Amino acid sequence: MLHGLIEREEGLKAAALRAADAGDWQGVASMAKELQAVYRAILASGAVPAPESARWEGLLERWTRLEAEAVRKAALGPARAAAAAKASAPEAVLRLSIETAPPAPAPAPVPVSGPAPAQACSPVPAAKSATGVTLADVKGLEAAKQAVMDALVNPVRHPDIYRTLKIKNGKGLLLYGPPGTGKTMFARAVAGELGLPFIYKKMSELKDKYVGESEKNVSRLFEEAQSHKRCVVFLDECESILRKRGNQKINVVEQFLAELDGFGTRRDVQLFLILATNRPWLIDSAVTRSGRIGLAVHVGLPDAETRRAIVSAALEGVPLAPDVDVESIVARTEGYSGAELHHGDGGGVCDEAAMEASRRWVKRREPLRPGDPEWNRVEEVTAADFETALEKVVPVSRKDPEIVRKNREFSLSNAAAGEDGDPEAD
Ligand SMILES: Nc1ncnc2c1ncn2[C@@H]1O[C@H](COP(=O)(O)OP(=O)(O)OP(=O)(O)O)[C@@H](O)[C@H]1O
Ligand SMILES: [Mg+2]
Repeated sequence: MLHGLIEREEGLKAAALRAADAGDWQGVASMAKELQAVYRAILASGAVPAPESARWEGLLERWTRLEAEAVRKAALGPARAAAAAKASAPEAVLRLSIETAPPAPAPAPVPVSGPAPAQACSPVPAAKSATGVTLADVKGLEAAKQAVMDALVNPVRHPDIYRTLKIKNGKGLLLYGPPGTGKTMFARAVAGELGLPFIYKKMSELKDKYVGESEKNVSRLFEEAQSHKRCVVFLDECESILRKRGNQKINVVEQFLAELDGFGTRRDVQLFLILATNRPWLIDSAVTRSGRIGLAVHVGLPDAETRRAIVSAALEGVPLAPDVDVESIVARTEGYSGAELHHGDGGGVCDEAAMEASRRWVKRREPLRPGDPEWNRVEEVTAADFETALEKVVPVSRKDPEIVRKNREFSLSNAAAGEDGDPEAD
C-alpha cells in the first residue's frame, strides 16, 4: 500500500510541477490538496515507523503551505499570476518535485568515489525497501542487474572488499535503452536495496528559457539532493540537458560537470546518481568519462528468459484457461518491452488479456444478483484473450524501430571501445 501511495505522490508532484510551469496556480492548489491527503494516508497507514514520520509530517506541512500560496497566486488574476509564477517558479518547481521516501538508518558513510576511509568496515545488510521495489522485482536482465550491484549496491554492502581490492567507482551510472525496459524501475530498486530516499527528476524540467536559470536549476537540484546526505538521485531524460557540446561550451553542461565534480569531495554526503536516457548517443562524452558517470549500462529489450520471468510473475495467481501456453506468449513477444508485457499501471499484454476476461465476467454477472451461484464463478483468461491483447499492444520494436536499433548500435560500439558490454545481447 505504501508503494502505491508513494507512486501516487510521484504522479501528483509531477502534475503540480507541470501546472506550476504553466502558471496554473489553481491546478497547483488542487494537486497540493490531493498530496496532503496522500501524506495523511501514509501517516495513517502504520507502515512508517515513528522516527520517519517526521519527514512525512514535514511534507504534509509544506504542501499545506504551498496550497495556500497557490490559492493566493490564483486569486491574483492571469497577468499578475504569470509575473508571480515567473518570480517563484524555480523555487516551487524544484522543491516540489523531489520525492522523499523515508530514510533508512544510515550506516557509516562511504564515499562512492575516491579512497574509502580507513576505519573498520560495517557491511550493510539488505535494507528494507524505501521505495517498495527491490532488484528481485526487476525480472531477468541479469547482466544489467549485476552491473548495478557491482557499481552501486555492493560497494555499500561490502566496503571492505572494495577497499582491499582497490576498486574505485565513478559517481554513478547511466542506464540507457528503449522506452519501457525498466530503467526507472532499476533505479527505484537500487534505492529499495539500499533503503535510501529516492529523488526523481526529469532533466527536461530543469530547462528554462531565461538565461542562467537552467544552470541555477541544476545547482539547486544538487543542493537539495545533498541536503538528504544519502540518497539515490535519478535523473531521467538526461539527454535533454547533457547534450553533446561540440566545440561550443554549453553552460548548463558545464554547471552539471562542476556539481558532479564537487559532490565527490564531501565526505558527509553520499549521492548515488543514476542517469537515464533513450538517446545515449546525444550525451556529451565529458559526462560519461571515467571518474564521473563512468559506467553505461544497456537496458535493452528483454530476451526470452527475461520475457518468461516477467510473464510468469505477471500471471502468478491469475486464473488461466488450460489453453494458455506461457512458452508461446514468450515466443510471440520478441520485440516487446517489459512494460508492454506487464505494466504496474496496466496496458501490457498480460494486463490487456486479463482485462478481456474481466469484461466477460462483468457482462455475465451484470444481469445476476449477488448470491447467485454464477456471481463468483471465476472467468479464466484464455489463449484467445492473449491473441486480442497481442493485437492491441503494439511493441516498441514496431512503433519505433529506430530507437531500438540506435540503442543497440550504441551498446555495440561501446562494447567495441571496451567501455561497456552489451549485457542484454542474446
Ligand atoms: N525487467 C522488468 N521486470 C519487471 N517489470 C518490468 C521490467 N521492465 C519493465 N517492467 C514493467 O514496466 C514498467 C515500466 O518500466 P520503466 O518505467 O522502469 O521503464 P523505463 O525504461 O524507465 O521507460 P522510459 O524509458 O519510457 O522511461 C515497470 O514499472 C514494470 O511494471
Ligand atoms: Mg523511465
